[in-house]
Amino acid sequence: MKDSDGTATKQRMEDILASLNDHSQTGEQAKPKCSSKKMITPKLSLDACRKKLIDQYTRTGKISLKPWDRTSYTDFDDLHTNIDLFAKNKGQRGGEDGKRIPLPGSINDIFKTKVDGSLPPRILLLGKPGHGKTTLVAKMAYDWATKDGDSPLKDVPLVFALKYRRTRKDTSLGEAIVSQLLGRMKGVTPEEIEEFLSDNDEDCVILLDGFEEFSGSLSTEDEKSSLVELTLFQRFPGCRVLVTSRPEGKEAFEEADLLFVYAVMEIQGFTKEKSDEYMDRFFKSDPLSSNDLKNYLKGKSEIGCLVEIPFFCMAICTLWQSDLLKSVDSQSSLFDNLLMYMVQHSRSKGNVGGLPTTRNISAKELQLLICSVGGVAFESFKTDEDRVVFSLKDFEHCQGALDIAVHIGLVSKQTASTEPAVWFEEPPMIIEFYHKLAQEHCIGIQVA
Ligand SMILES: Nc1ncnc2c1ncn2[C@@H]1O[C@H](COP(=O)(O)OP(=O)(O)OP(=O)(O)O)[C@@H](O)[C@H]1O
Ligand SMILES: [Mg+2]
Repeated sequence: MKDSDGTATKQRMEDILASLNDHSQTGEQAKPKCSSKKMITPKLSLDACRKKLIDQYTRTGKISLKPWDRTSYTDFDDLHTNIDLFAKNKGQRGGEDGKRIPLPGSINDIFKTKVDGSLPPRILLLGKPGHGKTTLVAKMAYDWATKDGDSPLKDVPLVFALKYRRTRKDTSLGEAIVSQLLGRMKGVTPEEIEEFLSDNDEDCVILLDGFEEFSGSLSTEDEKSSLVELTLFQRFPGCRVLVTSRPEGKEAFEEADLLFVYAVMEIQGFTKEKSDEYMDRFFKSDPLSSNDLKNYLKGKSEIGCLVEIPFFCMAICTLWQSDLLKSVDSQSSLFDNLLMYMVQHSRSKGNVGGLPTTRNISAKELQLLICSVGGVAFESFKTDEDRVVFSLKDFEHCQGALDIAVHIGLVSKQTASTEPAVWFEEPPMIIEFYHKLAQEHCIGIQVA
C-alpha cells in the first residue's frame, strides 16, 4: 500500500499499531480523557452530542418482530437472544490460519477480547445474510445509551453507529454522522466534528454496519473520503472501530492489506439452545405453540436447520403463528409464504390514507408485483451496481406496483436524512426492501 508521495503506508500503520498496543495490554477500554463540558464545535458540547446520540439509540433501539412492519417491534430485553461469536487469532497470514476463539459473553466480548495479546483498534465482524449483524450493532449502541452494566462501551464518551448503505462513495465521516445521527444543526459542520474526532479519537468508538453495501471502495488508487480513510486505518487511529460485513466483504480488506490491523471475528448464528430460547420468548404468552413448533421442526430437516439463522427463526415463528408454515419446504417457499402473510396482514390494516387496497390481490397479481418491483433490483444487480437503496425514479415505470409493495411492506418508502450538499433542496425519498434477503429473493425469481 503506497501513499501518493511513494512512502510505504503499511510501515506507518505498523508503527501506530505498535504504539497503540502498548496502551492496550490490560484488556480494558482506555479511560475517557475529555470532560462532558468540552465543546465539539462552538455550538455543540460533548454533552449535548451525547444526549442526541442516546436519544436516537434508545428511540430506535428495538428488535423487529416483523421487519416488513415498522410498527411491530419489541424491546431488546424481550427477544434479544445471544448469538454465537468467534474471534480469530491472526495466524501467519494475517487472519487465514488463526485459531478460532469462542466469545462466551457474545456481543459484550467483542470490544473486550484481545487478539494476539492486545485489544485490536479495528475489528471486522463477518456474518452470513440474516445472521444478526445489523441487530448486533443496534444492540451495542442501545447498551451504550442505556449504560448497560455489561456493556464494554459504557464509559466511552461517544459511540457513533453508522450504516454504510446510507452513504455515497464520497460521503465523509462527518457528513455520515450529521446525516445519520445528529441531523442538521445551525452552526455545526461535518468538518468541525471530524476535527474533534481527530483530536479526541481515543474517546470515540465507531460502529459501521454492512460494509458489503458500501458504494465506495478501499482501493488506494481512488480519491479517499475520511470514511474510507477511517476504514483504511489512515485516520483516527486511536478510535476503536467495528465494521460488520457479509463474508464477501473480507476480500476488499485482504486486497488493501488490512488484515494485520483488523481482528477478524465471526458471527455464527443461534445454537440449538438459543433458537429454542428465541421460540420460547417469541411465544411467551403461548408456550404450547413453541413446543408444538419445536416438535414439528424435528421432522422437517429441510427447514429445521434454518432456525440457526436469526432472520429465518423469526420468519418461521411468524408463519407458525399464522398457520402458514405447513406448506413450506424450502427457503424459497418460506419467502413466498411470508409474502402471503404480508398480504393477509395488510388486509387487516385496511385501505389507509388513499393507498390501494390489497383485498383482491390474486396469486398471479402478486407474482406480477414481484416481477415489477424485483425487476428494479434485478436491473441494478445486472449492471453490477447491486444497490440496496433506490429512488422514486427507479420505479417510475411501475408506480402502481410500488404503491402496493409499500402497502404490504415488501419495500419501505421514507424521506432520506438531509445531506449537507443538498440542504437547500427537498430531501429525496428513498426506497428499500424490508430486508436485503427479501431483495435477493425477488432478484432470484427474475433470474429463474
Ligand atoms: N440476536 C438476535 N436476537 C433475536 N433476533 C434477532 C437477533 N439477531 C437478528 N435477529 C432477527 O433476525 C433479523 C435479521 O437480522 P439482521 O438484519 O441483523 O441480519 P444481518 O446479518 O444484518 O443480515 P444482512 O447480512 O442481510 O444485512 C432481525 O430483523 C431480527 O428479527
Ligand atoms: Mg444487516
